[in-house]
Amino acid sequence: MNENSAPQRPTQLIFELSQPGRRGTAMTKPDVPTRPLDELLPASALRKSPPALPEVPEHDVARHFTAISLKNHHVDKGFYPLGSCTMKYNPKINEMTARLPGLGDLHPFQPTSAAQGAFHLMWELGEMLKEIAGMDAITLQPAAGAQGELVGALLFRAYHTAQGDPRKKIIIPDSAHGTNPATVAMAGYDVVTLKSNEEGRMDPAVLEAALGEDVAGVMLTNPNTLGTFESEIETITRLVHQVGGLMYMDGANLNALVGMTRPGDLGYDIVHFNLHKTFSTPHGGGGPGAGPVAVKEHLAPYLPLPILQRDGEGKYSLDWERPASIGKVHGFWGNFGVLVRAYTYIRMLGPDGLAETARVAVLNNAYISARLEATYDLPYGRGMHESVFSGAFLKEHGVRTLDVAKRLLDFGMHSPTVYFPLIVAEAIMAEPTETETKEELDRFCDAMLQIAEEASRDPEFVKNAPYTTPIRRLDEARASRHPDVRYKAD
Ligand SMILES: Cc1ncc(COP(=O)(O)O)c(C=O)c1O
Repeated sequence: MNENSAPQRPTQLIFELSQPGRRGTAMTKPDVPTRPLDELLPASALRKSPPALPEVPEHDVARHFTAISLKNHHVDKGFYPLGSCTMKYNPKINEMTARLPGLGDLHPFQPTSAAQGAFHLMWELGEMLKEIAGMDAITLQPAAGAQGELVGALLFRAYHTAQGDPRKKIIIPDSAHGTNPATVAMAGYDVVTLKSNEEGRMDPAVLEAALGEDVAGVMLTNPNTLGTFESEIETITRLVHQVGGLMYMDGANLNALVGMTRPGDLGYDIVHFNLHKTFSTPHGGGGPGAGPVAVKEHLAPYLPLPILQRDGEGKYSLDWERPASIGKVHGFWGNFGVLVRAYTYIRMLGPDGLAETARVAVLNNAYISARLEATYDLPYGRGMHESVFSGAFLKEHGVRTLDVAKRLLDFGMHSPTVYFPLIVAEAIMAEPTETETKEELDRFCDAMLQIAEEASRDPEFVKNAPYTTPIRRLDEARASRHPDVRYKAD
């Protein structure tokens, strides 16, 4: 704060705002006879003293939480080019439909007969996703991309075991998202890491050398984690199928392809969607998300239980009689609210609108890449929907990619993803998405170029950023591993 600025409302905890007797709501007098609590509850369930709840009027509560929400960065506040995360703007109509009483107030224990509308929505969403992916069957249960991958790996196991040929290895490129090797290892497979070629792609010759009869399959996102389209994908899928393996597409990057091409047509057997990325449901900060998994016909018997089915009269029921299924993977039927949001988004855009999102996502990324590439190196060239720059050139000034990320906060923008993928030194992975205007993209590029200039002129200034945030630099690992969320030590 500079010396001339007027005093601001102090930052206090809601408990510190509390004053005895203040309240935000007035309860109306009950119009039925009341009975004392100790007549209704056993003594063991009664408190000895009232709970220490804050006593605060409604407007103070509203101001308090609005102020807190603005301390953090979010997509409603500013640009959020977090590569690999597709932080596109989430239209508010998604929220409206998710809160419609018939959907938002539905109880998970509602009998199937009384939840036909919800099942109809899930059915239609499944049909649309199958069409988008070029697949034959689907489960909407997985709660995230990573859980979709785990389901995929379990499907690999179920399929090969049913052929009497359980296999041991899954091949993953070195550019892959960290969840790929992690989920594959969780499923009990050995991970074979394949070195990408100088263009950042999977090399069919290198793949062929690694393939064998103990390989259950390949997990490969497309475009890959460098944003590069795997142009040899048809050769790759043919080689894998020739040895009896399966192809899994990590569909997290579908925003670059949706409406343009389909994983099923490229030869993949399985794909997961990140509904919270491509289909615009809010994410970040840990969820909730949804990672439906779509498969070709030969894998349908192994999908998680239960499978939603529709009879000739359009009535929905849940099929639990699938002896080959890998079992249930989520409570009830998945993260239903996320499914409603994704359904709304897809229906709002329609097939042409979805294809347009992919076109503009790629165009926007081409634009920022073209503006930045003379300053920030692009070791693997421009990507499709995202590009991975390197901040290694800043090291001569003692400045690192992390400092660029922190300085960007002073411009009111979230940083791109940094230090990932691992195969790019000082990586800066930017994904602008289709929802940003040219003016916003220009603001981002101007900021990035200004930071590079500041780094050469006054490195210490960049290394001490940010200057405008409530908290400057945290020990991030400690803050997330040992969060201190207590109001009082006692
Ligand atoms: C390429 C890729 N695969 C998988 C995931 C995992 O998805 P989720 O965060 O929903 O588990 C991500 C997430 O960032 C990703 O970018």
